[in-house]
Amino acid sequence: MTQELMETPVESVPLQSLGDWRRSHTCGDLTAADKDKEVCLMGWAQYRRDHGGLIFIDLRDRYGLTQIVFSPEVNADAHSRARVLRPEFVLAVKGRVHLRPEGMANPNLATGEVEVYVTEWKLLNSSKTPPFPIEDRVEAGENLRLQWRYLDLRRRRMTNNIILRSRVAQAVRQHLAGNGFLEVETPFLTKSTPEGARDFLVPSRLNPGSFYALPQSPQIFKQLCMVSGLDKYFQIVRCFRDEDLRADRQPEFTQIDIEMSFVDETQVMDMAEDLMIHVFHEALGVELPHPFPRMSWDEAMARYGVDKPDTRFGLELHDVSHLFKQSGFKVFASAKIVKALRVPGGESLTRKEIDELTEFVQIYGSQGLAWIKIRENEWQSPIAKFLSEEERAGLTRELGLTPGDIVFFQAGEFSIVNAALGNLRVHLGEKLGLIPDDAWNFLWVTDFPLYEYDEEEKRYVACHHPFTSPKEGDLETMVSNPAAAKARAYDMVLNGNEVGGGSIRIHQADVQRHMFDALGFSKESAEAQFGFLIQAFEYGAPPHGGIAFGLDRLIMLMSHSPSIRDVIAFPKTQKATCLMTEAPSEVSPKQLRELGLRLRSEDKK
Ligand code: AMO
Ligand code: AMP
Repeated sequence: MTQELMETPVESVPLQSLGDWRRSHTCGDLTAADKDKEVCLMGWAQYRRDHGGLIFIDLRDRYGLTQIVFSPEVNADAHSRARVLRPEFVLAVKGRVHLRPEGMANPNLATGEVEVYVTEWKLLNSSKTPPFPIEDRVEAGENLRLQWRYLDLRRRRMTNNIILRSRVAQAVRQHLAGNGFLEVETPFLTKSTPEGARDFLVPSRLNPGSFYALPQSPQIFKQLCMVSGLDKYFQIVRCFRDEDLRADRQPEFTQIDIEMSFVDETQVMDMAEDLMIHVFHEALGVELPHPFPRMSWDEAMARYGVDKPDTRFGLELHDVSHLFKQSGFKVFASAKIVKALRVPGGESLTRKEIDELTEFVQIYGSQGLAWIKIRENEWQSPIAKFLSEEERAGLTRELGLTPGDIVFFQAGEFSIVNAALGNLRVHLGEKLGLIPDDAWNFLWVTDFPLYEYDEEEKRYVACHHPFTSPKEGDLETMVSNPAAAKARAYDMVLNGNEVGGGSIRIHQADVQRHMFDALGFSKESAEAQFGFLIQAFEYGAPPHGGIAFGLDRLIMLMSHSPSIRDVIAFPKTQKATCLMTEAPSEVSPKQLRELGLRLRSEDKK
């Protein structure tokens, strides 16, 4: 880029109107087959290079890049005016397609064999120098990119994510509509649905003191669509959950939401599997092997410690509790469960690395991380002195220990041991490079518990949601032994991520009442919150079930993006703010008055 041109103030550049110019091609179209064609392209100036009397510009649009050449021999005026061009200026060019000179073709670019010699051009708009260059290897921090999101979306990787997302949405619609599903919209201004997160509330001006809740999912409405006899429903729909955000969570996110009547688990799962096969074929050209493997929740927890196992690599967990019942190591002897993770080749981990892993498992409530390095003639370990010959022999036999291994242990409560060791497994898989990045490992996890114990609330809550049907025969267990009751629920897991979840629903009013009762809802509060649903079940509700996919998560995985924010056009930060529009923001006293609201003084800025 020439220095003098960088200093040209933007305002001084005369702009021209589009007039009757129309694009003949996009910036991604032209190939050697178009040689000698007269074309008209429009787009953004990406790079400018001045070379031996010629000016080269890479012209960019959504579709690609085309090299444009301004030559004084073709049009002296067009060439001299081109000196004004700077990054992100918007231009329209007319010219002729030439083959690039011998050896100058760019095999990495679809249009790399050609360049367009400009005969005429128009400057449609200028641009200030963008806060970061529009290229893939951007150094800019994420906050800057979010603040200037429309510029960030011009970058090829981001544009491609948006294109992929659109392609997936189209493939979903095509497949589901083709299979008899009706696309139905459900309200955003509604009542709370219990998906387990906090609601976003919207005050009602016309009903002061009353609030709508934004839906955490369309769960109840899609079930009501089944009561309506719509039979097969889908919607690509926004859901709103006020929860703590992570790399794979957003406060508003999109579901591919599906519900079907007169079905059991198998039919919903087969349909969901067919949908993924179609989507991967259409959007990525990937043929997924099927049927997807299925694994019970019990087995997933036993072998992987988590309910969304990443099956792309080994390192499975082993329950070794029975070996330590009489152990001299009290931590193990007194624990409810002791599990081991054998890592072949892990003997080379340093003390510092092991300390880091010990800190890592603390996130999951772990009290410590016992380990043993297996060497030719000795076991090196802080707990070696506690281990009897019998315990050593048992470990060697059951874990298949060989020199070079390291074994990690977790002892304690079922949930902490599994969470700590299960997440350590994934962490080590990444750290040791055991995870192939081109694998698509789908997995169904089935037979979830009906409830999970909420330590904060000191009561059982629905593991999926309170509309999920218990397994046949567990109607009694629901109350007598809630921890043992199983649900007709299933999750779809992809490469260790939960991409979808669903269940067969309760469709009988008395069973639904029984469920609210078991969850500790009083008759009155169940009636106040869900009376309309229970009532609907009294008017001929068919058996039904469904599933919802997290579209953002799916696209994040399909595009190998590190964050869910990279696949949402206008996402929120970890603090649920939009850096571009500066939402959320304060409102005027008048607006508050109209809504019948007053801020507490400590909440005012
Ligand atoms: P569930 O709560 O499991 O089920 O949600 C379905 C899928 O949505 C995705 N997801 C999210 N994605 C991004 N940000 C979030 N905050 C977020 N929360 C969930 C996940 C998840 O698998 N109504 C039921 C579905 C049903 O029973 O049919 C439901 O919402 O990928
Ligand atoms: P201590 O006797 O407390 O020094 O512990 C000996 C080893 O056991 C240390 O390496 C601790 O990190 C580890 N350890 C302590 N508590 C647990 C536990 N609950 N599960 C697994 N390892 C533990």
